[in-house]
Amino acid sequence: MSVTNAAMSEVVVVSNRGPLKFSRREDGELVARRGAGGLVSSLSPLLVGTGAIWIAAAMDDDDRAASREGLVEAEGLRLRSLDIDPATYRMAYDVVSNATLWFVYHGLFDLTRRPRIDRRWWQAWAAYQTVNEAFAQAVADTAPQGATVLIQDFHLSLVGTHLAHTRPDLATVHFTHTPFCDPTGLRALPDAVAEELLSGLAAHTACGFHAQRWAAAYRDCCTEVLGRSSATFVAPLGPDPDDLSRVAGSDACQDAQSWLDDVIGDRRLILRVDRVEPSKNLLRGFLALDELLGQRPDLREKVVFLALVYPSREGLPEYLAYRTEMETLAERVNRTWGTPGWDPVVLAVSDNYPRSVAALGRYDVLLVNPIRDGLNLVAKEGALLNTTDGLLVLSREAGAWPELAQGAIGINPFDVSATADALARALDMAPGERRALSGAVREAAGRRTPRDWLNDQLAAAEGHQPG
Ligand code: G6P
Repeated sequence: MSVTNAAMSEVVVVSNRGPLKFSRREDGELVARRGAGGLVSSLSPLLVGTGAIWIAAAMDDDDRAASREGLVEAEGLRLRSLDIDPATYRMAYDVVSNATLWFVYHGLFDLTRRPRIDRRWWQAWAAYQTVNEAFAQAVADTAPQGATVLIQDFHLSLVGTHLAHTRPDLATVHFTHTPFCDPTGLRALPDAVAEELLSGLAAHTACGFHAQRWAAAYRDCCTEVLGRSSATFVAPLGPDPDDLSRVAGSDACQDAQSWLDDVIGDRRLILRVDRVEPSKNLLRGFLALDELLGQRPDLREKVVFLALVYPSREGLPEYLAYRTEMETLAERVNRTWGTPGWDPVVLAVSDNYPRSVAALGRYDVLLVNPIRDGLNLVAKEGALLNTTDGLLVLSREAGAWPELAQGAIGINPFDVSATADALARALDMAPGERRALSGAVREAAGRRTPRDWLNDQLAAAEGHQPG
């Protein structure tokens, strides 16, 4: 399906985080620059100059000041950013979206302690309802007659309910970027909340997911809670090859190469690139290296495990504790195995995409071992960027697994010993086999682009099954 700009001008994208971030220049003038995040970098280039409208939350005072100007046009994008009361927004974002729904959908609750549905939680739920209503109102006020509305992720589960009443002329799709839990997992939420969430999602023409299993889990939840299921579609995102080449050719990426030369030297490189999130399984990654170095003295001083990780949601105690545990474990592995001049683990915690791109170009092994992940774009980006026949060790719990299974070395992410074995197998593999496997992953990783993903959502909004 090809989409003309005329059609795109009738598209409204709705997400928590917007494509533009505002800040004040010294002279007090507000300036916009491209926002951060995977969704923004995938979707923004496709919307530039099309007239499509993007609705998102203002993240700070500068964004709020910009939102008072109404629809802002900058960098070829049209943004309506919502000025939501900061305290209400934080309750909805921290307590409901990130500390509850994200954990439920990933199946990551430590159920003896969480969730705790108490008075504070119910206040946060009221805030989540308010935020969703504000988004729905903004869509209702802004969307052209008969427009297609693409609503992104778990922050905005209830927008569909409102729009079904106020703007039945709109074709709406909801896309979930996380996994979805099965009915047993959903029972960690109060009954009325589960029902409200699923009714909100089911109010759309269709609900999209990155993988078949998340769509099936959602339908099972709907059947159990609502007694009916709603339409779903599966549309995995793919990397933008042009954007990857642009970053790979940038000065920042070239600068990172000399840092990498220093860090890696002539050693083999095991790489991981992740946000610091409990779902990413950073701890078992270091434990697997520990086991590998214990079993394989020949690899000592011959490998570097480089973990390039981005800080994430540091307002949540669970995330802070996880970061501390990760840093402590990395230090422990270095104390156990390190020698003068060799740290087996190099852990770099900062937001540096060009450096990640540079490292992805030259890994021997890329470890992507999430406990559960909606997709995992890094696995695909790595395959497209790598020029050294590097191998992918991939968790079978990543949404991208079915797409990349043919060339990846699959692991059960809970099995540290199996992960260590998989790393060893990848490091030991003969060049011919490496080339064949890395070629298979590269081919699979390049099959879909952000354009395909967008087109699938537009098709689903018209009631067609993508593909
Ligand atoms: C995680 C989730 C995504 C979500 C993103 C938002 O990566 O898996 O589904 O969109 O976080 O992150 P943010 O920093 O905007 O809360």
